[in-house]
Amino acid sequence: MTDFFEGEKMENLIKIAPSVLSADFAEMGAAVEKLESCGADMIHCDVMDGTFVPKITFGCDMIAAIRRHTSLPLDAHLMVVNPQNQVRFFAEAGASLITVHREACGDDLKNVLRLIKNCGARGGVVVNPNTSLREVYDCLDLCDVLLIMSVYPGLGGQRFIDGVLPKVEEARRIFDAQGIAKDIEIDGGITEENVRRVKEAGANVIVTGNTVFKSDDMAKTIHDLRTL
Ligand code: DX5
Ligand code: ZN
Repeated sequence: MTDFFEGEKMENLIKIAPSVLSADFAEMGAAVEKLESCGADMIHCDVMDGTFVPKITFGCDMIAAIRRHTSLPLDAHLMVVNPQNQVRFFAEAGASLITVHREACGDDLKNVLRLIKNCGARGGVVVNPNTSLREVYDCLDLCDVLLIMSVYPGLGGQRFIDGVLPKVEEARRIFDAQGIAKDIEIDGGITEENVRRVKEAGANVIVTGNTVFKSDDMAKTIHDLRTL
């Protein structure tokens, strides 16, 4: 972690956002209640439309249902084409943070980010492993969060792509140079083995699905991901 966060206790800055993609969808309410009781800071909701990524998961009505089972902030990761058509629905359903893919927005990215803010949610842009940070330099000022994918989107349980770490370091250098402590969220393949490296690189919001849901001690795993 770099200079800008100095002075704060490291684990106070780290937020653990388990992804419900790995939950049993037939028991989603119980799953998010358990995540909250085990110390999660946010619920990461992977929205897939079957076009931007091959599978379909759920829409805004699942967010509304999850909203009734937890007081935690809901982080809607929109892996969808034309996200501008979805933003209002997800904000009204209770998403506190809505992130949209650089690769799905074309020239409309800034307008989509403005729309998220106008709908009262925090917003962010997502970059896939093969998308350079240069592609989002001009919209970072409109983002509350930068989400850096460490797997190609579409599935849980994939292997972490080490090659994204320099991108995390570059993003943290940019925010430090601007004197802002903006959240850098990393998503995909995070385990107890690699979480230290992603935090040292400058990520402070850790998304993890498989590692948390396959754990036989969810509270310990969430604690370890935060403190390792
Ligand atoms: C993948 C999703 C990720 C994924 C994380 O498209 O965006 O949030 O569910 O799950 P793990 O931690 O299992 O890679
Ligand atoms: Zn995700």
